[in-house]
Amino acid sequence: MSNVSSQKAFRKNSFDEAKRLIASKYPIVWIESWEEERVEQMLKRVSSSGFSQPLTFSAWSETKGFGTGEKTSIIEALELFISQKESGILLIKDFSWNLAPISLLKRTLRDLFQQAKSSFKTLFLLSAFSDIPEDTLKEIITMDFALPDETDLQTIFEGVLKGSPKVKVVLNDEQRMKLLKGALGLTGDEAKFVFQKMMVGKSELSEDALEIVFEEKARIIKREGLLEYVPTKFTLDDIGGLDNLKDWLKNRSDFFSKEAQAAGLKIPKGVLMTGVSGCGKSLSTQAIAAAWGLPLYRLDMNRVYGGAMGAPEEAFRKAISQIEAVAPAILWLEEIEKGVAGYEQGDKGVTARIFSSFLTWLQEHSSPVFVAATANEINKLPPELLRKGRFDEIFFVDLPSEAERGNIFKVHIAKRNLDATKYVFTDLAKATNNFNGAEIEQVVVSGLVLAFQDGKRELSQDDMFKVAGRMVPLATTMSEQIKEIKRWADTRAVKASR
Ligand SMILES: Nc1ncnc2c1ncn2[C@@H]1O[C@H](COP(=O)(O)OP(=O)(O)O)[C@@H](O)[C@H]1O
Ligand SMILES: [Mg+2]
Repeated sequence: MSNVSSQKAFRKNSFDEAKRLIASKYPIVWIESWEEERVEQMLKRVSSSGFSQPLTFSAWSETKGFGTGEKTSIIEALELFISQKESGILLIKDFSWNLAPISLLKRTLRDLFQQAKSSFKTLFLLSAFSDIPEDTLKEIITMDFALPDETDLQTIFEGVLKGSPKVKVVLNDEQRMKLLKGALGLTGDEAKFVFQKMMVGKSELSEDALEIVFEEKARIIKREGLLEYVPTKFTLDDIGGLDNLKDWLKNRSDFFSKEAQAAGLKIPKGVLMTGVSGCGKSLSTQAIAAAWGLPLYRLDMNRVYGGAMGAPEEAFRKAISQIEAVAPAILWLEEIEKGVAGYEQGDKGVTARIFSSFLTWLQEHSSPVFVAATANEINKLPPELLRKGRFDEIFFVDLPSEAERGNIFKVHIAKRNLDATKYVFTDLAKATNNFNGAEIEQVVVSGLVLAFQDGKRELSQDDMFKVAGRMVPLATTMSEQIKEIKRWADTRAVKASR
């Protein structure tokens, strides 16, 4: 895949994208999509209203030819298109390299490419899979077909309603909007299925139908296996310390609101949190979602690269188009250094290509998607990622200071509904030098066990001292690595703590 095609893959509006490709005289465009009907509708619209002069539009399939009752082979169809004088669009449905002897097919496409370059003709190859042999890469550009937006979903919804005349809709405008928004991220067929399911056996469509949409969407997105919806359990109050980071987040809490967008405020693109493990990076990511009131989706890069979800580049593009469709949303990339570990500058491999399209998207996307990335081994990250303009800020999350340790204790004591007045937090903080947040939580948890075993007592300060005295914090055994991380972060990141 060339750079051009990976960049444009993230443009959201398929109508505009198709128009742009036609206007730039790309003769052959590959669209990977299951949504034949929507693709055909979109191209028809482009042909009739995309340009000052309408273009001819024809569609060919193996079973129906041009739909005139006459059988045409794909080679004949392509040759006809080559000889056509007017500007136009030809859509080949279910394109596959088996539709004709492959060498003949490639040759015909090449002829078309040569001839169409100087004319206003564009061939669209539609297939559910992307399968472009190396030796045709030069001639074929790929285009991502965007998932339905709210207007498309409205049309689908109304279509389903028409098919179920007995169902009375008692939704107000706001609920209707929520319902359509709830279906963002689904393909047209999936949305249709969800809307149908919502109406089964119902005489009335009311607010509780929304729940069905949300549930179905969570199920469908989960089945895709790329993005995982993460219900947010934590708020900013669950974070002890990290005050700089918290302030930064609070200051941006309504940047994603309609008002802010209307006022043209620049939406933050993302934040990278690096640093010592167990100090609250993942925790903070979840707190962002709660603080900003946005849904959080986690993308497991290991699964993207693993190949089980399809070719990595396709899987990644799919994930991006899904997250854009559910925007405004937060995209959580956990331990990104794992994903890019194999990355080297100039490397021609898949990792490098995905990574460079990720960088491009990160910098250029205009959809309200905020990326919250975490990294433990920052020195593995390529320098491009850290350049200005990629992330809005890079935070270094250090081992908690003494004061912060006291606050972390407070958080975990409060979480367990214990009486905070019974403990002296400054003393607990002193007794846990070098402990990270996770270890402090462990002190509280193990302390509770100890107290329970010892006659089902309430947790005492002493229980926690005992537990802490027996623990060897990770920072002690890893002091060299931690020093190195700190040295790295000193010049490249902002401290998350005040
Ligand atoms: N600053 C903190 N305040 C409160 N709890 C913390 C803090 N840091 C870590 N913890 C506890 O440790 C757990 C693991 O921390 P996590 O955020 O996963 O660390 P990491 O930085 O490795 O992502 C959290 O779920 C939380 O319970
Ligand atoms: Mg983590």
